[in-house]
Amino acid sequence: MPRFAFFDGEIVPIEAAKVSIMTHAFNYGTGCFEGIRAYWDEAEGQLFVFRMPEHYQRLHRSARVLHIGLSYSVEQLGHITLELLRREGYRQDTYIRPLIYKSSEGVGVRLHDLEDSVAMFALPFGRYVEKEEGAEVMVSSWRRVGDNAVPARAKITGAYVNSALAKTEAVLNGYDEAIVLNQDGHVSEGSAENLFLVRDGLLITPPVTENILEGITRATIIELAHEELGRPTVERPVDRTELYVADELFLCGTGVQVAAVVSVDRRPVGGGQMGPIVRQVRELYFDVVRGRVSRYRHWCTPVYEG
Ligand SMILES: Cc1ncc(COP(=O)(O)O)c(C=O)c1O
Repeated sequence: MPRFAFFDGEIVPIEAAKVSIMTHAFNYGTGCFEGIRAYWDEAEGQLFVFRMPEHYQRLHRSARVLHIGLSYSVEQLGHITLELLRREGYRQDTYIRPLIYKSSEGVGVRLHDLEDSVAMFALPFGRYVEKEEGAEVMVSSWRRVGDNAVPARAKITGAYVNSALAKTEAVLNGYDEAIVLNQDGHVSEGSAENLFLVRDGLLITPPVTENILEGITRATIIELAHEELGRPTVERPVDRTELYVADELFLCGTGVQVAAVVSVDRRPVGGGQMGPIVRQVRELYFDVVRGRVSRYRHWCTPVYEG
């Protein structure tokens, strides 16, 4: 459990960070959030926050969609994060959860004329999907929320009911994760991850117009695959059955990191185990997030003084 939280403009003991049952966001899901990882590097004795400015830029974009007045800049949110992590003193992999939400108390569905608040906590975090080396997934019977209903581009708390429905359906049916199709029947993403296929050596991922969250890990992998592995990614609509005929498949996100998918709807992907390109991408990703690749060190913000 975390010991502290950022709440009402200051860092307070976690027990003091409480909201009322009348809070707008609790009643209507009117909040946005981020999920950021910080990686502990034992050799350097340092905790590195991965791509922190990019996460706070996305939080600002989410705020625009939800009419949330976010009074802290990207830099200020970064300072709060570092201060919170220092107070916690974590020396292990950590997950940071910033929240911005409609904090007025009362009844009435709307986004305007409401107070906005910012909160943040951080907790030790290991794996999100237990079988990162070989996840078995199903295509969900639930469809992804649409841009003209609940925009997936913004990381809206209420929209995660959609992810939760898909995830629980998958787990209760004996799978590790769900892949969700959008209203057009194209592959959108995992319940809380973006998705890449490998076909004939080519990396393919659905474009940002397929009701995906515009993932920071997704962008990271597109860049790393291009720059370091000489593999450009094609962003194009993906059919459901391409999942069945892909040579390799992986899910990626801050939580899941890079998880190899070894079967879809009980059909083995490729040889039914992690393929060579996924293996390469995973190894590179884990080196980069831990600050071990100097070229990408600027993506890693150190928490503690050197
Ligand atoms: C629905 C959804 N898609 C994709 C992602 C991956 O995004 P990112 O790589 O920015 O964490 C997430 C969150 O982590 C998510 O919740």
